[in-house]
Amino acid sequence: MIVARSRAELRSALGGRRSAFVPTMGALHEGHLALVRRAREIDSFTTLSIFVNPAQFGPKEDLSRYPRPIERDLDLAESEGVSVVYLPPAEEVYPEGFSTYVSPGSSAVEWEGSLRPGHFQGVCTVVLKLFNILNPHTAVFGWKDLQQCAVISQMCRDLDVDIRLDFLETVRESDGLARSSRNVYLSPDERIIAGRLNVLLRSAGDRIAAGERSAAVVADLLEAIRAAGGTPDYAALVDPVTMKSLDIPQKSSRIMMVVRVGSVRLLDNMPIAP
Ligand code: PAF
Repeated sequence: MIVARSRAELRSALGGRRSAFVPTMGALHEGHLALVRRAREIDSFTTLSIFVNPAQFGPKEDLSRYPRPIERDLDLAESEGVSVVYLPPAEEVYPEGFSTYVSPGSSAVEWEGSLRPGHFQGVCTVVLKLFNILNPHTAVFGWKDLQQCAVISQMCRDLDVDIRLDFLETVRESDGLARSSRNVYLSPDERIIAGRLNVLLRSAGDRIAAGERSAAVVADLLEAIRAAGGTPDYAALVDPVTMKSLDIPQKSSRIMMVVRVGSVRLLDNMPIAP
């Protein structure tokens, strides 16, 4: 495995070849490793980036304490057969004088978009830069970040980005908690609460699949989350392309929630069978 710490090292490692690419912010867990395995099924020449992107963190968010276990990440990437890891310094991604950003589309307006102003602008900007720098033929993302999947897909459609996007279902702990780099912040008590939340989401999804209107089900879900000790930011049944909320499920709609437990924001979603 080659670790490229600069654009020049990356260029020589790629040798003009296109790859199956997994963009990450590091602190790799089973969810990321599943993305790498999918990428390797698509192409044995697999690239992975590790870059904690300052542009997608708000001023009061956890940029400085975001976990950065680089040596462990590199060992995991190597054991999964990644061909090239791109580990750029921040100055290479955002050099002095950098001032051009991608303005994300309509799918970025609600939900995370309204609670975290600038977040998707930062995500789209870095993802488009990484796409331009690595020039992969395929990029693999996890459904766990549902709105991110919608926003990046829309960016690629709207800006004619010639990269195939592949999305993989969420990898979960044994109690169903979605794997996330931020789960390490949970205290033991918070971890127990976090584990109960996906059960609530799943049973809300089952009720909608059985024909109940989402408005009533979501209202019950929000109450159940509070009773379980979480603080919901939102929950909704949505179309995963437009991110508009739906009252009745359509093909491929998903139920999602974002819940704060202690200082940790937990994102989760799952498909609904209409
Ligand atoms: O999902 C993530 O880890 C990040 O948002 C991404 C896509 C690597 C961009 O920084």
